[in-house]
Amino acid sequence: MQLVTVFVPASIANLGCGFDIMGMAIESAGDIVRMEMSEGDGIEIINKTDYDIPCSVEDNVMTPSIKAMLQDRGVKAHIRVTLMGKIMPGSGIGSSAASASAAVFALNHLLGKPYDSKRLVEFAMEGEALSSGGAKHADNVAPALLGGIVLICSYHPFEYITIPFPKDFCAVVAHPHITVKTSESRAVLPEKIPLHDAIQQWANVGGLVSGFMKGDMGLVARSMRDVIVEPYRKRFIPGFDQLGERLMAEGGETFNISGSGPSVFALCKDASVGARLEVIMVEHFQQFGIKVDTFLSKGDNLGARVIF
Ligand code: HSE
Repeated sequence: MQLVTVFVPASIANLGCGFDIMGMAIESAGDIVRMEMSEGDGIEIINKTDYDIPCSVEDNVMTPSIKAMLQDRGVKAHIRVTLMGKIMPGSGIGSSAASASAAVFALNHLLGKPYDSKRLVEFAMEGEALSSGGAKHADNVAPALLGGIVLICSYHPFEYITIPFPKDFCAVVAHPHITVKTSESRAVLPEKIPLHDAIQQWANVGGLVSGFMKGDMGLVARSMRDVIVEPYRKRFIPGFDQLGERLMAEGGETFNISGSGPSVFALCKDASVGARLEVIMVEHFQQFGIKVDTFLSKGDNLGARVIF
């Protein structure tokens, strides 16, 4: 029997304008997963966290990723996965992506590392698709596995670039305890978009990537704007516009939905501003009677790693 335990960070997908093509890893939350590989067949999933997670082989996001890798490798083995630590499911900071990524990262390690990072992202997307109603996107799994900020340049063929998260930027994340299913928040999006919105959005993506590469928070803040998806999704988050205005007035640089929500995030330049923004986020959701968790985080530039 072989054994490994891995950590995979949480991630913020889309980063405003980069719907399905951008995401970044954050260091303050993540999944801890232990995997054992032994002779035999089948997958077993054990949950040692406090969260209610589907552990049947059919329903867990790790299963499609594990099966795809074993099949590709032509390996027959019994895989036991134990979830030791978990990002809160449904929070919008890459919970399912972290699990799928942890599964492929751990299995690759146990198989002797036959796959490169790009193939690992592709295997992890198999699991991610299960939680998003079939859509295969890498904007959570890629940063979770690789760390930093990831831009998916192309899905066919699959290609990405990574950018380190600037050291002096902080992310403030609020997770209001409301349910927003990824499949539902994708279903509200339009099939077609006006050309003037597309022009603004691709200008924003260019500015955002450039701002991150230069470590220019002003450019990041001006560019991290989503004119295509956010107008349809903000209805799921009570008082979204008012919260954004308050955060900007108190020193926040940007405010957006994290992935498909319900978490939201702001970026700022130092931890003291971040602490103020956390208080505003808590007050905001409490006025609607919604429980909320907040945290302040640096970017995680390491991505998935073996911890023991
Ligand atoms: N890009 C995805 C979305 C992230 O916004 O639907 C959520 O998994």
